[in-house]
Amino acid sequence: METLLAKLAPPQAAMLRAISDHTRVTGAAVYLVGGAVRDWILGAPSIDDLDFSVDGDSVGFVRDLQREHGGELLVHEKFRTARWVCQGASVDVAMSRAEFYARPGALPTVSPAPIEVDLRRRDFAANAIACRLSDGVVVDPFQGRRDLEHRLLRGLHEHSFVDDPTRMLRGARYAARLGFAFDEGTLEAIQRGVPHLRALSGERIKYDFELIFRDREPAAALRMLREFGVFGALGVPMPDPDKLDERFARIWSVFTKGEYVLDALDLAPDRLLNAAGWGALIYAQGQLAVRRWLELAPFEHDVREALIAAGALSTMSAQMFHAPTSRQSALLHDFSGLTLLFGHLFDGSVLKRRAIHCEWKDWRWVRPTINGEDLRARGVPPGPEYRRIFDALRDAWLDGRVLSLADEQRLLDEILAR
Ligand code: CTP
Repeated sequence: METLLAKLAPPQAAMLRAISDHTRVTGAAVYLVGGAVRDWILGAPSIDDLDFSVDGDSVGFVRDLQREHGGELLVHEKFRTARWVCQGASVDVAMSRAEFYARPGALPTVSPAPIEVDLRRRDFAANAIACRLSDGVVVDPFQGRRDLEHRLLRGLHEHSFVDDPTRMLRGARYAARLGFAFDEGTLEAIQRGVPHLRALSGERIKYDFELIFRDREPAAALRMLREFGVFGALGVPMPDPDKLDERFARIWSVFTKGEYVLDALDLAPDRLLNAAGWGALIYAQGQLAVRRWLELAPFEHDVREALIAAGALSTMSAQMFHAPTSRQSALLHDFSGLTLLFGHLFDGSVLKRRAIHCEWKDWRWVRPTINGEDLRARGVPPGPEYRRIFDALRDAWLDGRVLSLADEQRLLDEILAR
């Protein structure tokens, strides 16, 4: 347990200690399960998600913990799961359970069951290892540890991907992240699940694609999905594998270098990565691609609008960006920050990308120094003329025809004289 504690951030380590202590006092059968056990065995340098299974009253167990240690509880009564949030960290606690799928792709109904049964309902043997907190005993009925040694992803039964086709999206994400391969039987089971992808709700498809976008090797995972036939089964155009590599490399480089003024987009980092991932799949892929994806996935309003508007941005001819700066800025001025980000990341024209960068960083902020007061003082009656004068002055600043306040005054005199 000490080696695991060392891999956790302090607030989470405190939660694990609290859970362990409580388990020892009450004798509750509590197991650490899923990714944390997998990553611990793999020797990952850090672990951030802790999932527990309680063979018994899971919700009562976390309620006791919260009473003793504080924090907040988010309880999902139907599945008897709870998230305990304490000092900025969180852990998930579920009832050890059996699952029953009424039809492919449906959410399962659950009933209490011992840990061995709970492990059987999981996605891959490598994720189906449990560690009992009271004494550190490892429960590994599917030889998950052997798979970890052989870097293998093995589904647990032949209908696994029919029951829950999101598992193939998860599988591609793990295979790409961990550098694991699928065994033959699992590849066949995946093929059996592919036709059932359409039974999933758009929300679930979107959720798992976004996990891929935020994971370590999104392009490799998406290439695998392409090979499985996932895009065809979802009725969306297949991405070009070379483009995927190039586009996710661009996201990585822009986001890590802060090359684009991302803060100004006012989006949380996760949402920004999700949006960029959708842009990578959809930008300049044609109207049909946009329409199909919009029909499939319930995008947030800003992402949806940006994907639609990106159609117009991507089809603008690169030639247009030889025009004077004021003209280029006018072409780009009405696009949202997110649409411009898509163009900046994925447009094939260097010239257009440069213009987008300048528009976002500089051009859109350029304003004449005079204001309405000044025009009134010069005897111009308020009206639509004001906007035309401001625009003319702004264009002159952008095009370098005005370089100083004196220049601006001179140009204003000329305009008023006209
Ligand atoms: N799980 C599953 N099938 C799903 C979702 C989850 O079998 N469709 C099981 C797996 O055993 C998984 C565990 O629930 O390991 C926890 O799920 P999650 O937190 O989503 O994944 P992690 O294993 O923690 O993996 P990651 O490294 O991506 O966080």
